[in-house]
Amino acid sequence: MRWVDRHANPHWQVTSGQQDPGTVDRLLRLLPDWFGIPASNAAYVAAARELPTYVARPADDGAAEGLRTGPVGVLLARRHFPQAAEIHFLAVDPGWHRQGAGRALVAALEADLVADGCELLQVKTLGPSKPHAGYARTRQFYASLGFRPLEELLEVWGPENPCLILVKMLGRSAASGGNDWNVATQS
Ligand SMILES: CC(C)(COP(=O)(O)OP(=O)(O)OC[C@H]1O[C@@H](n2cnc3c(N)ncnc32)[C@H](O)[C@@H]1OP(=O)(O)O)[C@@H](O)C(=O)NCCC(=O)NCCS
Repeated sequence: MRWVDRHANPHWQVTSGQQDPGTVDRLLRLLPDWFGIPASNAAYVAAARELPTYVARPADDGAAEGLRTGPVGVLLARRHFPQAAEIHFLAVDPGWHRQGAGRALVAALEADLVADGCELLQVKTLGPSKPHAGYARTRQFYASLGFRPLEELLEVWGPENPCLILVKMLGRSAASGGNDWNVATQS
C-alpha cells in the first residue's frame, strides 16, 4: 500500500494509493440531491474498498493543531482497457464546492493515466433530457474539464434516469469544443 503525495498544487493535496470507503460513505451522506438511492450508495462504498482511490485535502490541512479538515473530495477510477478508463465515482463536500478540489482530483487521475499510456477517459452521469439543477452543474463541471457528450442511454439506469456518457481524449486541452451541449432537452 502506497501513500504518495505526488499531485500537490498550491491549493489542494491529492493523494492516491490507499482505500478510503469511510470518506466515500461520508460524502455520499452529504450529497443526497445527487446520491439518493441507498442500494447505489452501498455499492459505491463497496467499490471504494477495491478501486484506485484519489482523495483531496486542502494543501495546508493540519497546519494548525486541532484544525485538521481531512479529505473533502474523493474519486474512484476504473481501468477498462489499456487505452480506456472511467471515473466511477467523484464527490466533493458541498461546503467546499467550486474551490478547485474536483478539478484537482481529475487532473491527478489524468496525469497518472497519461503517464501509463491511457488515451480515453469516460464518466457516466445523469443526462440532460431529465431536468435536474444539481446535475446540470455537474455537467458544466465536466464540460469545463474538456469532457464531451457521446450518447444518452435509457437502458443503463432505466428510463427515469437517463445515463449520459461523457468522454475525454487525454492529453488534449480542455479549451476546444465549447460548452454548448449541456442543454435540458435533446432533439
Ligand atoms: C461535480 C463536483 C465533483 C465538482 O467539484 P468542485 O470542486 O465543486 O469543482 P471545481 O471547483 O473543481 O470546478 C472546476 C470548474 O468546473 C466548473 N464548475 C464547477 N462547478 C460549477 C457550477 N456550479 N456552475 C458552473 N460551473 C461549474 C467551473 O468551470 C469550475 O472552474 P472555475 O470555478 O474556475 O470557473 C462537485 O460539485 C460535486 O461533488 N458535485 C456533487 C456530486 C457529483 O455531481 N458528482 C459527480 C457525479 S458523475
